[in-house]
Amino acid sequence: MLKTIEWKNNQLVMVDQRKLPHQLELIVCRDYQDVVNAIKVMAVRGAPAIGTAAAFGMALAALNINAENISDYIKELEKVKNELASTRPTAVNLFWALEKVWEVVKNIGGSKIELQRNILAKAEQIAEQDIKTNLLIGENGVKLFDNGDVILTHCNAGSLATVYYGTALGVIRSVFKRKENIRVVANETRPVLQGARITAWELKYDRIPVTLICDSTAGFLMAQGKISKVIVGADRIAANGDVANKIGTYSLSVLAKEHKIPFYVAAPCSTIDFSIKSKKDIPIEERNPSEVTTIMGKSIAPAGIDVYNPAFDLTPNSNITALITEEGIVKPPFFANLKKIKKNILK
Ligand code: MRU
Repeated sequence: MLKTIEWKNNQLVMVDQRKLPHQLELIVCRDYQDVVNAIKVMAVRGAPAIGTAAAFGMALAALNINAENISDYIKELEKVKNELASTRPTAVNLFWALEKVWEVVKNIGGSKIELQRNILAKAEQIAEQDIKTNLLIGENGVKLFDNGDVILTHCNAGSLATVYYGTALGVIRSVFKRKENIRVVANETRPVLQGARITAWELKYDRIPVTLICDSTAGFLMAQGKISKVIVGADRIAANGDVANKIGTYSLSVLAKEHKIPFYVAAPCSTIDFSIKSKKDIPIEERNPSEVTTIMGKSIAPAGIDVYNPAFDLTPNSNITALITEEGIVKPPFFANLKKIKKNILK
C-alpha cells in the first residue's frame, strides 16, 4: 500500500479517494484552502487521515501567511485553525490534531521561521505516530481472531482512512499475516460507498480474500452463521465507550448482538474524546442529499425528493465486545477501563 498522505517539497500530496477504485490519482495541496476543500469534498476522509491532513494544512498556512508582525501572524493562523476545524464535525481526530499543532504555537512560539519549522515538525510527528499507532493496534487485535474467521467490516477504516495500514483493516492485515483461511466481508457502505470503492480495493490490492455485499445482506449472512466477527473503526469514542462511526454501524452492532457475534471497534486513543460522557454529546454530520439521490454522479431518485443523510450513527457501549487501541484491548466496563487508558496516555 502507498501512503495516503505525504509532505513533499512544501506541498501536501494525498490520494484522491473520490477517484477510487477506477483511478489512483494524487491531489496536491499548495495552500491550507486546498486542504479545507479536500476534507469537505472527501478527497481525504477517515478520522485519522482528516486529522493529519489538517495538521499539514496548518503547516501550509504557516508557510504562506503574510503578516506585518508576529501577533498578526498568529491571529491569521488561528483563523486557519478555526476554518480547518469547521470542515467536518464528527471525527474528533480533526480537533485533536489541530490542538496538538496549536500547543506548539502557544507553548513554543518564536519567530515566524521558528513557528513554520515547529508546526511542520508537529504535523510530521502526527503522521509518523499514526503509522506506529496503527501497527500496534493491528498487533494488539490479533489475539481476538482465529483461523478460518470470516470478518465483516463497514465503511473504510483502512490505510486510506489513516496515513498508512489502517485501524480496523490494520487489525485484519495483522490477522491475515498470522492466521489461516481468513476472509473479509465488506459492506458496500451507502451512500458514498467507501466499502465498495475503497475497502474492497485496498484488500484486493493486498490479496486479502474479500467478498463485497450490499449493506442489507449482513443480517442474512449472520443468521446463517456465516460471519464470525465484526470489526469497524470509529470517528469518536465517548468516555463511556459509546462509538460514533459511519452510518450503518449501529444496525450492524444490533445484528451482531442478536446473533452473538463479537463486535470490535479498532481506533487510536486520539479518537477517544474524554470530554464527552456518552454518545448523546457527539455531533453527527449531515451531508448533502445528492449523496443519497445519486450514485457516482448518476441520479437514482425522483428530482426534489426529501432526503435525510446523516454521515454517522451512534453505537451504545452495550453492543461493543471490545475496543482495540494502541494501548491494548479495552473490555467492559468501558468507563472504568478507558479511565485507565487515559492515565497511561497522560503519563
Ligand atoms: O465519512 P468518512 O468516510 O470520513 O467516514 C469514515 C469512517 O466512518 C471510518 O470508519 C472512521 O473514520 C474510522 S477510520 C480509521
